[in-house]
Amino acid sequence: MLTAARSPELPVYPRLDLEPQRGSGSTLVASDGRELLDLYGGHAVAVTGHCHPKVVAAVREQAARLLFYSNAVPLAVRDRVHELLIELAPAGLEQCFLVNSGAEANDVALQLARRLTGRRRVVVMEGGFHGRSLATLAASGLPRYRQLAEKSGGQALVDLTAVAPFDDPRALAGLVDAQVAAVLLEPVQGLAGARELRRETLAEARRACDAAGALLIFDEVQCGCGRTGAFTAAEAYGVRPDILTLAKGIAAGLPMGAVLVSGRVAMAVGEGDLGSTFGGGPVAAAAAAANLEVLRDEHLPERAAALELRLRRALAAVPAVLRISGKGLLLGVHLDRPARGVQASLFERGFLVGTAVDPRVLRLLPPLVLRDDEADRFAAALQEVLR
Ligand SMILES: Cc1ncc(COP(=O)(O)O)c(C=O)c1O
Repeated sequence: MLTAARSPELPVYPRLDLEPQRGSGSTLVASDGRELLDLYGGHAVAVTGHCHPKVVAAVREQAARLLFYSNAVPLAVRDRVHELLIELAPAGLEQCFLVNSGAEANDVALQLARRLTGRRRVVVMEGGFHGRSLATLAASGLPRYRQLAEKSGGQALVDLTAVAPFDDPRALAGLVDAQVAAVLLEPVQGLAGARELRRETLAEARRACDAAGALLIFDEVQCGCGRTGAFTAAEAYGVRPDILTLAKGIAAGLPMGAVLVSGRVAMAVGEGDLGSTFGGGPVAAAAAAANLEVLRDEHLPERAAALELRLRRALAAVPAVLRISGKGLLLGVHLDRPARGVQASLFERGFLVGTAVDPRVLRLLPPLVLRDDEADRFAAALQEVLR
């Protein structure tokens, strides 16, 4: 029975004091009429901005025709998403499977790697976060999440996970042997504080996987979909994984994740090996197709790269900013003080930003449609708050 004072919702989320009512581009309007500039991008989801008119029109049109049918039938709108993802992904990733979230995509990636290689062990990196299914919690490079897996019956999976130190190519390569099914990496770590790996580390991971017969998996759930300056970080870095996962930015806020695989991995997948009732459902697919077309046609990855330079230039001039990490529009602003207070002051001034596991990092993951004047307004506000 519920006690009177308790919300019926489980209390798992710390929440901001803000109820967004409407969104357009990078702007949110709250229920009390306040306007905020959203440099948190709806949690890295709103790559084409909030409520892009083409995405909204596609969702409306699809919802009025057919809300849902599962993968038991072919759907042209779902096929369109497959085509767009493979068109936008780097060469070598040839087929994909649609799911509903980042955790589900990574779970599928780990399953495929283990089944295909017949091996159990995985190598991950300190600071990596891959979701909250049991297998992805166990594969986290953050102790807090591995502990959750242990407490949830996942000790065996935790024991099968080796954690490489952050961005150390030699140490990483040293862990990849003939027992290892996969190396699972976020090319730019999100939750840890927008920490980019060096190209050298990713290239060494590729080499070590090839030498040991293991698969390289890039988790681009947060850093993918144009955020790093190319559609995938794999392309931005010029290192090709065997499996690449996407989620947050694909469908402008409708639930969708994707697992993109190389031809070799695809050859090993047959009927009945994977499944998902809602994966690639028509409304989410309509949103994704429109969203991916906007991303491509409005050249938003290039926009992310240009905005990175603009923000870096403006923020580097602020004395309290010690350094800026990350790539494209997944940036970590390293401060000389705790980030929480700065986040709160920015919020009071109408700017929404994220924090990270590192308590002195402000995490920026704005829509890729952020305008120059909006980026400048944010930089000026941060300067004022830090003065
Ligand atoms: C890099 C990364 N992987 C996986 C996930 C899990 O995605 P989801 O919450 O959609 O399951 C997240 C979510 O924050 C993420 O940032």
